[in-house]
Amino acid sequence: MLSTRFTEAFGIRYPIAQGGMQWVARAELVAAVANAGALGFLSALTQPTPEALVKEVARCRDMTDEPFGVNLTMLPAINPPPYTEYRQAIIESGVPIVETAGQDPSPHLPAFQQGGVKVLHKCTSVRHALKAQSIGVDGVSIDGFECAGHPGEDDVPGLVLIAQAARAITVPMLASGGFATGRGLVSALALGADGISMGTRFMCTVESPIHSNIKDRIVAATERDTELIFRPLRNTSRVAGNMVSRKVVDTLAEGGTFDDVRELVAGARGREVYEFGDPERGIWTVGMVQGLIDDIPPVADLVQRIVGEAERTIVGLAGLTSTPAA
Ligand SMILES: Cc1cc2nc3c(=O)[nH]c(=O)nc-3n(C[C@H](O)[C@H](O)[C@H](O)COP(=O)(O)O)c2cc1C
Repeated sequence: MLSTRFTEAFGIRYPIAQGGMQWVARAELVAAVANAGALGFLSALTQPTPEALVKEVARCRDMTDEPFGVNLTMLPAINPPPYTEYRQAIIESGVPIVETAGQDPSPHLPAFQQGGVKVLHKCTSVRHALKAQSIGVDGVSIDGFECAGHPGEDDVPGLVLIAQAARAITVPMLASGGFATGRGLVSALALGADGISMGTRFMCTVESPIHSNIKDRIVAATERDTELIFRPLRNTSRVAGNMVSRKVVDTLAEGGTFDDVRELVAGARGREVYEFGDPERGIWTVGMVQGLIDDIPPVADLVQRIVGEAERTIVGLAGLTSTPAA
């Protein structure tokens, strides 16, 4: 049951993935996701060097015999991280799947393919998914406007984006952004996706290696408690609504530049939010789906709950009788 093109192509028990999450997707969480029968991705750039990533992969392997992957996010930067070295670390670690994000993955695709690493490319538009498919990725994960992190600049929510993508995409496709429940999984399958990818929901689990204050904050928050920062810079990011994110939005709206908010958005402050548990300390990433999250379960319970609810929902829907049109 619940076998899809995604589970078959990637060798994963359930059609559920945990997307890469900076500072959050560490070995503890990813191993728990793998042991639960879903596909977890370590965040490569959470590790300070490619060598540290190799060690993190080994640490994760110590905790699971199931397959897991690594997310490699390539965003524009003044001093970009050494992506090629991170790529080599992924290949040499023998990781079977990489989630690429942020940029066209074509410069890295041949090396991954030669190294036997399957590529799931994450993007936020049908045109980028089509481009990725045309260059030969093994699957795509498409983030709707609801998602935590970078939703792109088109503002198309998943309900339209996934349905539209399903018309054109022939490789296995995950729907991402706004998913937390079995009913959500069924809706993604109904729209034509082969599974779901979740960030925020997995962030709010027992094994997620962040401070419990932040998990409690996610449980208490509603779907309206996020902010879109960097809109005027066309590098939009959906983050938790707090004093810092609202100040960033206001400063840029009043004509400020990146330099005016540089200190507020410093990555170190965001990292400290997760580490020390003060949700007002800096910018931290979370999605609108937090409005649907009201507990902090172990990952295995969460995955079983989603799968069970999805199966019951499918059976319930199949039992609906339709009235023939007059
Ligand atoms: C705390 C956090 C950090 C994230 N960091 C990254 C990242 O570094 N790279 C990336 O591709 N996506 C990142 N994402 C996005 C997720 O992989 C996923 O696409 C997104 O969370 C899906 O939306 P959802 O939160 O509504 O499930 C992050 C999400 C969260 C919640």
